[in-house]
Amino acid sequence: MRYSGPIKSESRMKIPVLLLVVISGCFANENLHGASFVFYKISRTAKVVLKPTITEPLSNITVCLQSYTDSIQRDSLFKLEIENSSMALFHLFQLSDNYFVSLDQQYVSYKSSKESMEWRLICVSWESSTGIIHFVVNGKLFPRKVLKPGFIIDPEVTAVLGHDLTSYVGEIRNVNMWDQALHHSEMQLMYSKNRYNCCGNVINWESADYEIDGDVLLYKPSKKS
Ligand SMILES: *[C@@H]1O[C@H](CO)[C@@H](O)[C@H](O)[C@H]1NC(C)=O
Ligand SMILES: *[C@@H]1O[C@H](CO)[C@@H](O)[C@H](O)[C@H]1NC(C)=O
Repeated sequence: MRYSGPIKSESRMKIPVLLLVVISGCFANENLHGASFVFYKISRTAKVVLKPTITEPLSNITVCLQSYTDSIQRDSLFKLEIENSSMALFHLFQLSDNYFVSLDQQYVSYKSSKESMEWRLICVSWESSTGIIHFVVNGKLFPRKVLKPGFIIDPEVTAVLGHDLTSYVGEIRNVNMWDQALHHSEMQLMYSKNRYNCCGNVINWESADYEIDGDVLLYKPSKKS
């Protein structure tokens, strides 16, 4: 009798958990350490959707990922969009030899080199109070820029990899996101230490909720025997 209270509340607790499983049934949760998403052809539909764990509106963010392509066209790498709309609140993309970071329709751009046959570790952090953006590619800090001070990112977003109007062609891996603006030296050290930046508290590559749409392969290297 004495324990009937706690037992009842435990069974009540189970209801939301079950609902969550039903709603997000098509998402896999997996440790993607060592794996990469291979976007192997241009397609209108190919993309990977990641579910971030966000409980409050975001005023500080950092996104890091690695990309590898031998054909930069108009490559959307990472986009935070309002669920089921293509409204991008935050967008990291490449167009020919420029990178772009956009927040709610405004953007800054960075001149890069188009040719680069290597993985690129791209990190971008943004802090709402000042709007300051730190943009770091393979350990190099680009000139600081400012975007939308005071803007707040709605928490009802999903993250889309490799897709805007059409898909990116290339590989993306080690995607992590934080709800804080990491210090630029942390983002630079990730590259120089040759250690990818595990693990974001909003998106964690080692425990990622993801869904693949269309022509994308999750490549996992087999162990050498
Ligand atoms: C965002 O960053 C600023 C500057 O570091 C800090 O003052 C503020 O508390 C942070 N906001 C949140 C919600 O973490
Ligand atoms: C988004 O679309 C999916 C599939 O079309 C649907 O299951 C889901 O409920 C939608 N989410 C919202 C917030 O409308």
